[in-house]
Amino acid sequence: MKLEPATLADADALARLHALAFDAPWSAREITAVLEGPGAFGFMARGDAPAGMILARAVAGEAEILTLAVDPAARRGGIGRALVTAACGAAAQAGAEAMFLEVAADNTAAISLYLDAGFAAAGLRRGYYDRGGQERMDALVLRLDLNSASA
Ligand SMILES: CC(C)(COP(=O)(O)OP(=O)(O)OC[C@H]1O[C@@H](n2cnc3c(N)ncnc32)[C@H](O)[C@@H]1OP(=O)(O)O)[C@@H](O)C(=O)NCCC(=O)NCCS
Repeated sequence: MKLEPATLADADALARLHALAFDAPWSAREITAVLEGPGAFGFMARGDAPAGMILARAVAGEAEILTLAVDPAARRGGIGRALVTAACGAAAQAGAEAMFLEVAADNTAAISLYLDAGFAAAGLRRGYYDRGGQERMDALVLRLDLNSASA
């Protein structure tokens, strides 16, 4: 398994990975638009095939994880953790002092990963996620201080 920077040429593969992990997947076009945005970057994990992806951006000293997805067939092997570590390292190199993200309050797998990586609760956005007909879901805002992180 190796991690490589995600490029615009990877947009289709990134969209396929995103669709494996989310009910409301981002299209290749949406992913291209994200990657073309200010301060955007990403990584893709590859084994025999693409296995995981992370997209993030770093602007004006602050960074944000925009999305993180690992192929269900490749989970619990450390890929998610490696992608978060790579994104935090790249953000720190880009001059960011903190990494933020929003995660659904019921997403125990991702919350465990982030807390394990050193993130701490920084806020709550009530009803942030629209789950189409179901009750809206809160988002936790998590923050990692990149100055003290080992990433
Ligand atoms: C969240 C996600 C990216 C984790 O990817 P992964 O490659 O399986 O994660 P890792 O193997 O690196 O796990 C690292 C740690 O996170 C925690 N973790 C990961 N999955 C977990 C689960 N299902 N239940 C509890 N803890 C979990 C554990 O602490 C784990 O360490 P351990 O395996 O040594 O116990 C993956 O489950 C996924 O793609 N989910 C759907 C999309 C998503 O929720 N993205 C995040 C949105 S913010």
